[in-house]
Amino acid sequence: MLTIVEHPSDILEEKCKRVTNFGVELHELLDNMYETMIEADGVGLAAPQIGIGEKIAVIELDEDEGRLELINPKITEQSGEQTDIEGCLSFPGLYGTVSRFYTITLKAKDRYGRDFTLTAEDYLARVIQHELDHLEGVLFTSKVIEYVKEEDLESSEDE
Ligand code: CO
Repeated sequence: MLTIVEHPSDILEEKCKRVTNFGVELHELLDNMYETMIEADGVGLAAPQIGIGEKIAVIELDEDEGRLELINPKITEQSGEQTDIEGCLSFPGLYGTVSRFYTITLKAKDRYGRDFTLTAEDYLARVIQHELDHLEGVLFTSKVIEYVKEEDLESSEDE
């Protein structure tokens, strides 16, 4: 279980460096990030949120969907639009509507350094865009259209 960095913190607003070492240290970090995300009831976690300025993110929408690990990800195609409520593990209790692309295609590496391509839409695409923003030092609060009170949420998951 790692400590989640909360806003304000410089590391959350810095552009991350690319990962070049895909060895056991990275694998342990990914496993720890995943555990930390689950423990915090989040659906996504980016490395700067645990104080590491590298292009690494883990995502799991629910157990059935399985775990997604994104290393050095880059969006190559994007289309459509969706607007919905987001939260963030680095901003406890803060929620707001954000507009995102509906469909994205990205290139990334897995934990072994192998390239893969992924096309995602709707909620998964939203969570991926939120996490990729973290890797650029961009926080969802810079994109919020309207803040939503916690008591007005039907259910919420943090990214
Ligand atoms: Co976040």
